[in-house]
Amino acid sequence: MEKKIFSGVQPTGNLHLGNYLGAIKNFVDLNNDTKNECIFCVVDLHAITVSQNPKELKSSIHETVATFVASGIDPQKSIIFNQSKVSAHSEAAWILSCVAKMGWLNRMTQFKEKAGKDKEKANIGLYSYPVLMAADILLYDSTHVPVGDDQKQHLELCRDIAQKFNNDFEIENFFIIPEPLIKKGFSRIMSLKDGLKKMSKSEVSDLSRINLTDDKDQIANKIKKAKTDTLPLPSTIEELEKRPEAKNLMGIYSSLTNNTFRKSIDEFAGKNFSEFKEKLSDIVINEINPISMKIKELLEDKVFLEKILKDGCEKANEIASKKVKKIHEILGF
Ligand code: AMP
Ligand code: TRP
Repeated sequence: MEKKIFSGVQPTGNLHLGNYLGAIKNFVDLNNDTKNECIFCVVDLHAITVSQNPKELKSSIHETVATFVASGIDPQKSIIFNQSKVSAHSEAAWILSCVAKMGWLNRMTQFKEKAGKDKEKANIGLYSYPVLMAADILLYDSTHVPVGDDQKQHLELCRDIAQKFNNDFEIENFFIIPEPLIKKGFSRIMSLKDGLKKMSKSEVSDLSRINLTDDKDQIANKIKKAKTDTLPLPSTIEELEKRPEAKNLMGIYSSLTNNTFRKSIDEFAGKNFSEFKEKLSDIVINEINPISMKIKELLEDKVFLEKILKDGCEKANEIASKKVKKIHEILGF
């Protein structure tokens, strides 16, 4: 069966190895399968749920498009566009917010983490963020959504919203119930400074992440400084599970070499971190350096990046506006 793929990335700067291994690398594989129809969205409406500097937002949008293309997504084959330019997203988000239940949203852990202690002061967009995400996905009859593990709960909510709409209006399969595509084993890349914290764009210390724009020396330096424990590398999966930093670095290594954990453990069991880190550094540089050079080159050509977005928006708008029209008919507007 042909898959309809949809995914989104926020243009909030500092795209990192976690975004790449958890999401973008899968986008590329899906794009390369000729049977798939793929849509990759730069979700700028999601980005403004936290305060953004308009000039920086604009350049982050370009950087996200450049990263998609530099990583290997072909804009001739896949649709690349930015969310704010296709008004169906905002409209469908409002309509779906009249379907979703407060109780469902109250369970979302990302909101709890991002809102912190003082929920009264959080903006409403941050709270209803997953409803907009559901709109993104459902407007395109998406069958599969590649994301990192942190987005699993939002995807379950999207499925619930779709199901409830179909039930409420008694139209079977009006919204397609999408399947998450989450890479097993390596779907959550952790900070290089703390194996229990997710690698994140917003972490203050730049040493905590490998940015997709880092050069060779920066990558080598960050891996060298990555936190480890003092023991040699483990020989069993059980032992690895108890050592978060070792597990994370081994996970990155395994993911980039397409090895299982088992195979990587066999390769390094009993060796010390410095030897492993040298190997890891080479592997990461090998994969990321060509991407980072290509990103820099593409960022010099804003006209090209704008053209990709404009063409993508036209195609996305054609699909999404038809779906919204049908939604209007169903609702009685
Ligand atoms: P965001 O930058 O939050 O828009 O995330 C874009 C994509 O990257 C989503 O599919 C996330 O699930 C994924 N992602 C973000 N951080 C990580 C991480 N540390 N490990 C794995 N995937 C991640
Ligand atoms: N919420 C996702 C994230 O932060 C981004 C996103 C927005 C998304 N809309 C989406 C991902 C639709 C997949 C499908 O990572």
